[in-house]
Amino acid sequence: MKLKIAVLAGDGIGPEIMEQGVAVVNAVARKFGHGIEYREAICGADAIDKVGAPFPEETFRTCMESDAVLFAAVGDPKYDNDPTSKVRPEQGLLAMRKKLGLYANIRPIETFDCLVHKSPLKDEIVHGADFICIRELTGGMYFGPKKEGTDEAYDTNIYSRAEVERILRVGYKYALARKRHLTVVDKANVLASSRLWRNVAMEVMKEYPEVTTDFMFVDNASMRMIQEPRFFDVIVTENTFGDILTDEASCITGSMGLLPSASTGEHTPVFEPVHGSWPQGKGLNIANPIAQILSAAMMFEYFGLKEEGTVIRKAVQASLDAKVRTPEIQVEGGAHYGTREVGQWIADYIRSH
Ligand code: IPM
Ligand code: MN
Repeated sequence: MKLKIAVLAGDGIGPEIMEQGVAVVNAVARKFGHGIEYREAICGADAIDKVGAPFPEETFRTCMESDAVLFAAVGDPKYDNDPTSKVRPEQGLLAMRKKLGLYANIRPIETFDCLVHKSPLKDEIVHGADFICIRELTGGMYFGPKKEGTDEAYDTNIYSRAEVERILRVGYKYALARKRHLTVVDKANVLASSRLWRNVAMEVMKEYPEVTTDFMFVDNASMRMIQEPRFFDVIVTENTFGDILTDEASCITGSMGLLPSASTGEHTPVFEPVHGSWPQGKGLNIANPIAQILSAAMMFEYFGLKEEGTVIRKAVQASLDAKVRTPEIQVEGGAHYGTREVGQWIADYIRSH
């Protein structure tokens, strides 16, 4: 297969983990005879510094002309600590999602048996947890009408029936391919927008009798997720709730550096780690490249290249088993491996197996 991939490394640890993501894509491409053409493009604080905008028009064009976007992370503390700043790196990410019509953000929460002890939760709670969170990504409060005054401010949590319906259908597609259990997370006891979600879901669920649908308030879901993560199979929820719940869910696995995601919708899909740009780790060769590498696996799988995805997943598992791990998940007394060493080990493993 021929694939044009836009490479958006962004800020902080972004370029370092991206280098390893690309090395792994190359190893897979060589093994299976795929032709990959990369196009690098700027975004985030890096793009603000260079051209004054976090998602420049040229980057948008590069994304539109590609089959997939591999994205690393954006964000820089110099903007976090300056509420007066007119332009922020995160706006670039939001603009990318909106302009590419990426309404479905797929975040799988899988645990690695050998890392269960790294989770702040007890082993017996974490063991075997395996669910995906499907976060609506282009609606809700993030994009609704806003006012930002000095004495008053608001964000509007607005959803249309069509937006809710299409994301629910994505949820059912995944549920049908998994354990056929879908949980709609909302706050229908308080929010009008959530009642729309629930009404639409109650209609759509009738078309999927094979799937058990249940409804959970977001406060309850956030508790259940750490109390009994195995309860969940597929979660579908709105933008803000999904943002919060997936950070919480990432703790279940032991390291946020392990979680990949796919954002899909109308135009070019984006594959990116769930974690951010971790500016403190920048340039230190200590960031875990696995979330980026697994995002590449999701990219191959998106194009129906299942075996390619499996090969990456196996290599990642082998690196963990061989204790080739970045510091935050390394065993006590284990050797030091940096971002580069872990990435190269995984790419070598793919080449030689
Ligand atoms: C995420 C991030 C983004 C979000 C930020 C960086 C805008 O936290 O992808 O979860 O809130 O969507
Ligand atoms: Mn987030």
